[in-house]
Amino acid sequence: MRNNPVNAGKVFGDSIHELSPPEENHHPDPLPPLRDRHGRTFDYVRIAVIEQCNLRCTYCMPEEGVQFKEKDMVLSTEEILRVVNILARMGVRKVRYTGGEPLVRSDIVDIVARTVETPGVRAVHMTTNGLLFSKYARVLREAGLFGVNISLDSLQEDKFQQITRRSGLDKVLESIDLAVELGFPRVKINVVLMRGFNEDELIPFCELTRDKPVTVRFIEFMPFDAHQIWETGQHFASAADLCTQIETHYRDAGINPASGTRTEHHIYQVPGYAGKIAVIPAFTRSLCGNCSRIRVTADGNIMNCLYSEVPYHLKDLMRNGGSDDDIVALFRKAFDEKYKDGFEAKKAASIAAKINVSDIDRVRSSMTQIGG
Ligand code: GTP
Ligand code: 5AD
Ligand code: SF4
Repeated sequence: MRNNPVNAGKVFGDSIHELSPPEENHHPDPLPPLRDRHGRTFDYVRIAVIEQCNLRCTYCMPEEGVQFKEKDMVLSTEEILRVVNILARMGVRKVRYTGGEPLVRSDIVDIVARTVETPGVRAVHMTTNGLLFSKYARVLREAGLFGVNISLDSLQEDKFQQITRRSGLDKVLESIDLAVELGFPRVKINVVLMRGFNEDELIPFCELTRDKPVTVRFIEFMPFDAHQIWETGQHFASAADLCTQIETHYRDAGINPASGTRTEHHIYQVPGYAGKIAVIPAFTRSLCGNCSRIRVTADGNIMNCLYSEVPYHLKDLMRNGGSDDDIVALFRKAFDEKYKDGFEAKKAASIAAKINVSDIDRVRSSMTQIGG
């Protein structure tokens, strides 16, 4: 079932499945779209608005946190909105705010509200760890936030604390329920699945989709891990393996392929269930051919791939008086230089650093800076 039927049943393109309102909403001053040499078009930007986080997930940060940038190192609200406006002219339709934890940033609601109002933008999403979400949910919904992806790696309080080094499972669960109750059109749960740690929770997580209209997504663990917490690699659970387990468990229930976004490379629905189940091959990278993502890091650099180590200095350009045309040119350069896939990007990074490709993971920065 995994390959043909799933992909055949799927609607490729975030622009079809995920965007609202459905009517056209073009920017009044459009520019040619952002494309690369491999025929891909980039219409989805992920902007990390802060490096700080109120959790300390072991695969992401050491207990003491990472060395955070000074406040003026991150993009200001006006700078973010300027970038969004320029990208909307270039055909970007979907904006996701990430972090760190975006809700730790005090002006995040204002950023969301003003992004929603930007001509050309058709959907604004957020990825959050869910700790503060219930506090801001109503105002975010009123501001027009379309989708919320909530990270949660365990449904058991002791394991939740073990992975995040903090308590708060009840708050995260409350956030998920509130997001559904308030009617956010997309509510998703991101689970980083690790063998020997939370793999036994695969089915309990899937079962959340029985009654809740949410997509539960299992993400392959990626070695973005300068701290080498998972150095041994023994915690890796592959997408193929997870799909087999899900398909086997729900075979008798008649599990079907479903439609999803480009990251949801494998996606299913159990008949009669309210939500969907997806597997994201973040490490095996079978999703690269469909990549539509632009990344802006918390310190204001453009990244053309999650696996790239080449920053394009957007914030410096803006602070040195760069014009809108200069910014457009920087985005075009970044995507003109994008590699075919995350394997090539990683290889290039290791060549540039003059180290073996197998050693590059040791120097990779934490996800908190890249924004996932
Ligand atoms: P949707 O728009 O709802 O599909 O969300 P998303 O998957 O784009 O965003 P989210 O912040 O929830 O990201 C989930 C995870 O998917 C990320 O943390 C990554 O692990 C993985 N992911 C997203 N984009 C890429 C990508 O371009 N390459 C790889 N390898 N993994 C990605
Ligand atoms: N591998 C896979 N996913 C990761 N995330 C953070 N670090 C990693 C990693 N090393 C996930 C978080 C969140 C999303 C933005 O990225 O769990 O859901
Ligand atoms: Fe915070 Fe997300 Fe990193 Fe966990 S993975 S410490 S929630 S930024």
